[in-house]
Amino acid sequence: MTRSAVLAGIGSFLPPRCVPNAQLATQMDTSDEWIRMRTGIRQRYFAEPGTTTSDLAAEAGARAMKSAGLAEVDAVVLATTTPDRPCPATAPAVAAKLGLVGRPAYDVQAVCTGFVYALATACGLLAMSCVDTVLVIGAETFSTILNPADRTTSVIFGDGAGAMVLRATESDEAGQAPGNGTIGPFDLGSDGTGRDLITVRAGGAEQRRSCLTPAPGDEYFSMAGREVFRQAVERMARSAGAVLARAGWQAGDVDWLACHQANLRILLSLADALGIPENRVLANIAEVGNTSAASIPLALDQAHQAGRFKPGDRLLLSAFGGGLTWGSTVLTWPDLTHP
Ligand code: UT7
Repeated sequence: MTRSAVLAGIGSFLPPRCVPNAQLATQMDTSDEWIRMRTGIRQRYFAEPGTTTSDLAAEAGARAMKSAGLAEVDAVVLATTTPDRPCPATAPAVAAKLGLVGRPAYDVQAVCTGFVYALATACGLLAMSCVDTVLVIGAETFSTILNPADRTTSVIFGDGAGAMVLRATESDEAGQAPGNGTIGPFDLGSDGTGRDLITVRAGGAEQRRSCLTPAPGDEYFSMAGREVFRQAVERMARSAGAVLARAGWQAGDVDWLACHQANLRILLSLADALGIPENRVLANIAEVGNTSAASIPLALDQAHQAGRFKPGDRLLLSAFGGGLTWGSTVLTWPDLTHP
């Protein structure tokens, strides 16, 4: 018998404050038209001061546990770029908020690829019989690291959280065909030579808080948009292609392309590169912006809530982000009850 992971529940949470493009246009030199044309984004949500990443994560996690019909899980893995504190990790705080003190809980930092990396580590925990259920969360308060003077990043990112409960399943070698809810295989990669392309330069061991005044802007998130755009399409296309080959799927088998919501133009270019029609692309970026590690589970949960998936639908998940990092996996949609 081999142990593998299946999706058992899903949930998401957005903070209440919705910020339309027009509001940003009153604060910086931009326009609703530019943002919509270049990114596909119409609005995003920002957490109020006092609301932390662990607050959003715990809400999304509680909803995913409810969807799975579970009052407890055995472990919590949190993907985030915006932890509550630089030290310690945020996942133990999330576990505590969910009444899960004592369970293993840790963060995964792979920026916008974080959720795919977190899923992979959760599948490893299940496969190695460390635990029987894992709550995997992607949560961000990206608004806390945006530079209000940088229109190239401030109009793109938003806050939010999405979560999945995975549970272990036993199947014998003979009957290995991916069934409802099955996750994997994975393709993961990184290229640290590109770390300057998406970064917060100050606050770590390089530009230390204690002895240096950071160079102007270095305490904020920055991104070399045009180069990142090019690499995002190229890397995700290659990674998604690799995972399709590993899964034994063709592009025509994919019911939904559920990739990181970086930019609508990136989603459509990726679909084109993979030969997947536009109407198979899952896109909620217009309503929530780019929520980094939260974007894939948030998009999946919103589509689930809207009744867009049917059991057995085949999903291709792919992400690209800072590091640089990238990763892809496949998921067969389970028979989840609607809330
Ligand atoms: O999630 C992790 C990975 N992130 C991504 O994948 C994001 C990838 N990159 C992108 O999505 C796009 O590159 C951006 C949305 C960031 C930028 O779009 P772009 O079409 O690549 O624009 P650009 O950077 O080439 O800039 C075009 C023009 C520039 O003006 P000039 O030099 O042509 O006069 C910018 O200064 O647009 C200007 N611009 C803006 N104008 C109005 C840049 N940002 C803005 C803005 N409003 N917010």
